[in-house]
Amino acid sequence: MLTYKKLDRKDVSEELFKQIMVVENSTGSGYDEDIMREIWITGDKNDNFVCMDEDKVIAHISYNPKSKRRNGSIFMVNLTVLPEYCKRGIAQNLIYTATNYYIDNGYTLLTSVSVDKVNIPAVNLYQKVGFEIKDPICEADEDDEQYIMDSTLQNIKLTLDEIFKENIKIK
Ligand SMILES: CC(C)(COP(=O)(O)OP(=O)(O)OC[C@H]1O[C@@H](n2cnc3c(N)ncnc32)[C@H](O)[C@@H]1OP(=O)(O)O)[C@@H](O)C(=O)NCCC(=O)NCCS
Repeated sequence: MLTYKKLDRKDVSEELFKQIMVVENSTGSGYDEDIMREIWITGDKNDNFVCMDEDKVIAHISYNPKSKRRNGSIFMVNLTVLPEYCKRGIAQNLIYTATNYYIDNGYTLLTSVSVDKVNIPAVNLYQKVGFEIKDPICEADEDDEQYIMDSTLQNIKLTLDEIFKENIKIK
Protein backbone atom coordinates (compact mmCIF):
# COMPACT_ATOMS: atom_id res chain seq x y z
CA MET A 1 0.00 0.00 0.00
CA LEU A 2 1.24 3.50 -0.83
CA THR A 3 1.29 6.22 1.84
CA TYR A 4 2.08 9.90 1.49
CA LYS A 5 3.45 11.93 4.40
CA LYS A 6 5.52 14.86 5.60
CA LEU A 7 8.80 13.58 7.00
CA ASP A 8 10.28 15.45 9.96
CA ARG A 9 14.07 15.78 10.17
CA LYS A 10 14.18 13.82 13.44
CA ASP A 11 12.52 10.83 11.74
CA VAL A 12 15.12 10.56 8.97
CA SER A 13 17.28 7.63 10.07
CA GLU A 14 20.46 6.74 8.17
CA GLU A 15 18.55 3.82 6.59
CA LEU A 16 15.73 6.10 5.43
CA PHE A 17 18.25 8.62 4.09
CA LYS A 18 19.89 5.82 2.06
CA GLN A 19 16.48 5.04 0.54
CA ILE A 20 15.95 8.73 -0.27
CA MET A 21 19.35 8.74 -2.04
CA VAL A 22 18.34 5.65 -4.06
CA VAL A 23 15.30 7.57 -5.33
CA GLU A 24 17.45 10.67 -5.94
CA ASN A 25 20.10 8.74 -7.87
CA SER A 26 17.53 6.89 -9.98
CA THR A 27 17.30 9.80 -12.44
CA GLY A 28 21.06 10.01 -12.98
CA SER A 29 21.09 13.80 -12.54
CA GLY A 30 20.20 14.40 -8.91
CA TYR A 31 21.73 16.49 -6.13
CA ASP A 32 24.92 15.29 -4.46
CA GLU A 33 24.77 13.64 -1.05
CA ASP A 34 25.91 16.71 0.94
CA ILE A 35 23.16 18.87 -0.52
CA MET A 36 20.63 16.11 0.12
CA ARG A 37 21.80 15.80 3.76
CA GLU A 38 21.29 19.52 4.19
CA ILE A 39 17.79 19.36 2.68
CA TRP A 40 16.69 16.30 4.65
CA ILE A 41 18.66 16.28 7.92
CA THR A 42 21.03 19.10 8.84
CA GLY A 43 19.34 22.21 7.39
CA ASP A 44 16.14 23.87 8.50
CA LYS A 45 15.08 25.50 5.24
CA ASN A 46 12.99 22.76 3.64
CA ASP A 47 9.81 20.82 4.31
CA ASN A 48 10.08 17.28 2.96
CA PHE A 49 7.41 14.84 1.81
CA VAL A 50 7.68 11.22 0.74
CA CYS A 51 5.61 8.47 -0.80
CA MET A 52 6.30 5.05 0.72
CA ASP A 53 5.43 1.59 -0.58
CA GLU A 54 5.09 -0.20 2.76
CA ASP A 55 8.44 0.74 4.41
CA LYS A 56 10.31 1.70 1.24
CA VAL A 57 10.66 5.30 0.01
CA ILE A 58 9.65 5.43 -3.65
CA ALA A 59 9.21 9.18 -4.28
CA HIS A 60 10.07 12.48 -2.65
CA ILE A 61 9.63 16.23 -2.90
CA SER A 62 10.93 19.20 -0.91
CA TYR A 63 9.64 22.75 -0.52
CA ASN A 64 11.29 25.95 0.65
CA PRO A 65 8.41 27.96 2.14
CA LYS A 66 10.57 31.10 2.40
CA SER A 67 11.94 31.23 -1.12
CA LYS A 68 12.85 34.49 -2.88
CA ARG A 69 11.42 33.16 -6.15
CA ARG A 70 8.43 35.17 -7.45
CA ASN A 71 9.41 37.80 -4.84
CA GLY A 72 8.41 35.38 -2.07
CA SER A 73 6.83 31.98 -2.63
CA ILE A 74 6.73 28.37 -1.49
CA PHE A 75 9.29 26.92 -3.89
CA MET A 76 9.16 23.26 -4.86
CA VAL A 77 12.44 21.41 -5.45
CA ASN A 78 13.74 17.95 -6.04
CA LEU A 79 10.60 16.06 -7.06
CA THR A 80 11.59 12.50 -7.99
CA VAL A 81 9.63 9.28 -8.48
CA LEU A 82 11.44 5.93 -8.84
CA PRO A 83 11.24 5.06 -12.58
CA GLU A 84 9.40 1.77 -11.97
CA TYR A 85 6.63 3.69 -10.14
CA CYS A 86 6.23 6.47 -12.72
CA LYS A 87 2.98 7.23 -14.60
CA ARG A 88 0.73 6.04 -11.77
CA GLY A 89 -0.20 9.48 -10.42
CA ILE A 90 2.36 9.43 -7.59
CA ALA A 91 3.82 12.87 -8.37
CA GLN A 92 0.31 14.36 -8.44
CA ASN A 93 -0.49 12.80 -5.08
CA LEU A 94 2.74 14.07 -3.51
CA ILE A 95 2.02 17.62 -4.73
CA TYR A 96 -1.54 17.26 -3.36
CA THR A 97 -0.24 16.13 0.05
CA ALA A 98 2.16 19.08 0.32
CA THR A 99 -0.40 21.59 -0.99
CA ASN A 100 -2.93 20.49 1.64
CA TYR A 101 -0.26 20.75 4.34
CA TYR A 102 0.41 24.41 3.45
CA ILE A 103 -3.30 25.27 3.10
CA ASP A 104 -4.10 23.59 6.45
CA ASN A 105 -1.26 25.56 8.07
CA GLY A 106 -2.55 28.91 6.84
CA TYR A 107 -0.06 29.68 4.07
CA THR A 108 -1.31 32.15 1.46
CA LEU A 109 1.83 32.63 -0.66
CA LEU A 110 2.00 31.42 -4.24
CA THR A 111 3.71 28.09 -4.82
CA SER A 112 6.38 28.04 -7.54
CA VAL A 113 8.73 25.69 -9.35
CA SER A 114 11.48 26.02 -11.96
CA VAL A 115 11.87 23.31 -14.54
CA ASP A 116 14.23 22.61 -17.44
CA LYS A 117 12.44 23.63 -20.63
CA VAL A 118 13.41 20.26 -22.17
CA ASN A 119 11.92 18.22 -19.29
CA ILE A 120 8.59 17.53 -21.00
CA PRO A 121 7.23 15.04 -18.38
CA ALA A 122 7.74 17.59 -15.59
CA VAL A 123 6.43 20.59 -17.59
CA ASN A 124 3.31 18.54 -18.50
CA LEU A 125 2.85 17.46 -14.88
CA TYR A 126 3.07 20.99 -13.51
CA GLN A 127 0.68 22.34 -16.14
CA LYS A 128 -1.73 19.49 -15.46
CA VAL A 129 -1.93 20.27 -11.74
CA GLY A 130 -2.45 24.00 -12.33
CA PHE A 131 0.94 25.73 -12.59
CA GLU A 132 1.40 28.30 -15.37
CA ILE A 133 4.60 29.40 -17.11
CA LYS A 134 5.35 32.99 -16.09
CA ASP A 135 7.80 35.75 -17.02
CA PRO A 136 10.62 36.26 -14.50
CA ILE A 137 9.82 39.09 -12.07
CA CYS A 138 13.01 39.06 -10.00
CA GLU A 139 16.64 38.01 -10.34
CA ALA A 140 16.03 34.67 -8.58
CA ASP A 141 13.53 33.71 -11.33
CA GLU A 142 15.86 34.31 -14.26
CA ASP A 143 17.30 31.31 -16.10
CA ASP A 144 17.34 30.94 -19.89
CA GLU A 145 17.19 27.14 -19.71
CA GLN A 146 14.33 26.85 -17.23
CA TYR A 147 10.72 27.94 -17.04
CA ILE A 148 9.55 29.58 -13.86
CA MET A 149 5.98 28.48 -13.09
CA ASP A 150 3.57 29.38 -10.32
CA SER A 151 0.05 28.93 -8.98
CA THR A 152 -1.99 29.64 -5.89
CA LEU A 153 -2.23 26.71 -3.48
CA GLN A 154 -6.02 26.77 -3.81
CA ASN A 155 -5.85 26.45 -7.60
CA ILE A 156 -3.66 23.35 -7.33
CA LYS A 157 -5.95 21.82 -4.72
CA LEU A 158 -9.10 22.44 -6.81
CA THR A 159 -7.44 21.19 -10.01
CA LEU A 160 -6.34 17.97 -8.33
CA ASP A 161 -9.72 17.51 -6.61
CA GLU A 162 -11.30 17.54 -10.10
CA ILE A 163 -8.69 15.12 -11.53
CA PHE A 164 -9.18 12.66 -8.66
CA LYS A 165 -13.01 12.92 -9.00
CA GLU A 166 -12.73 12.13 -12.73
CA ASN A 167 -10.43 9.14 -12.04
CA ILE A 168 -12.96 7.68 -9.61
CA LYS A 169 -15.71 8.09 -12.24
CA ILE A 170 -13.56 6.32 -14.88
CA LYS A 171 -12.89 3.35 -12.56
C1 LIG B 1 8.37 14.12 -13.69
C2 LIG B 1 8.03 13.00 -12.69
C3 LIG B 1 8.21 13.51 -11.27
C4 LIG B 1 6.56 12.59 -12.94
O1 LIG B 1 6.20 11.62 -11.93
P1 LIG B 1 4.95 10.62 -12.14
O2 LIG B 1 4.59 10.04 -10.82
O3 LIG B 1 5.26 9.68 -13.24
O4 LIG B 1 3.81 11.62 -12.63
P2 LIG B 1 2.23 11.31 -12.62
O5 LIG B 1 1.98 9.87 -12.85
O6 LIG B 1 1.65 11.94 -11.41
O7 LIG B 1 1.81 12.08 -13.96
C5 LIG B 1 1.03 13.23 -13.97
C6 LIG B 1 1.12 13.90 -15.33
O8 LIG B 1 2.48 14.29 -15.61
C7 LIG B 1 2.72 14.22 -17.04
N1 LIG B 1 3.71 13.19 -17.31
C8 LIG B 1 4.26 12.32 -16.40
N2 LIG B 1 5.17 11.53 -17.01
C9 LIG B 1 5.19 11.89 -18.32
C10 LIG B 1 5.93 11.45 -19.47
N3 LIG B 1 6.81 10.45 -19.38
N4 LIG B 1 5.72 12.08 -20.65
C11 LIG B 1 4.85 13.10 -20.77
N5 LIG B 1 4.10 13.58 -19.71
C12 LIG B 1 4.28 12.97 -18.51
C13 LIG B 1 1.38 13.83 -17.66
O9 LIG B 1 0.66 15.03 -17.92
C14 LIG B 1 0.73 13.04 -16.52
O10 LIG B 1 -0.66 12.99 -16.62
P3 LIG B 1 -1.35 11.73 -17.44
O11 LIG B 1 -0.90 10.50 -16.72
O12 LIG B 1 -2.82 11.99 -17.32
O13 LIG B 1 -0.80 11.80 -18.84
C15 LIG B 1 8.93 11.72 -12.93
O14 LIG B 1 8.93 11.43 -14.31
C16 LIG B 1 10.37 11.91 -12.46
O15 LIG B 1 10.72 11.60 -11.33
N6 LIG B 1 11.23 12.42 -13.38
C17 LIG B 1 12.65 12.61 -13.06
C18 LIG B 1 12.90 13.75 -12.09
C19 LIG B 1 12.32 15.07 -12.58
O16 LIG B 1 12.41 15.43 -13.74
N7 LIG B 1 11.71 15.82 -11.64
C20 LIG B 1 11.15 17.13 -11.90
C21 LIG B 1 12.19 18.16 -11.64
S1 LIG B 1 11.56 19.81 -11.94
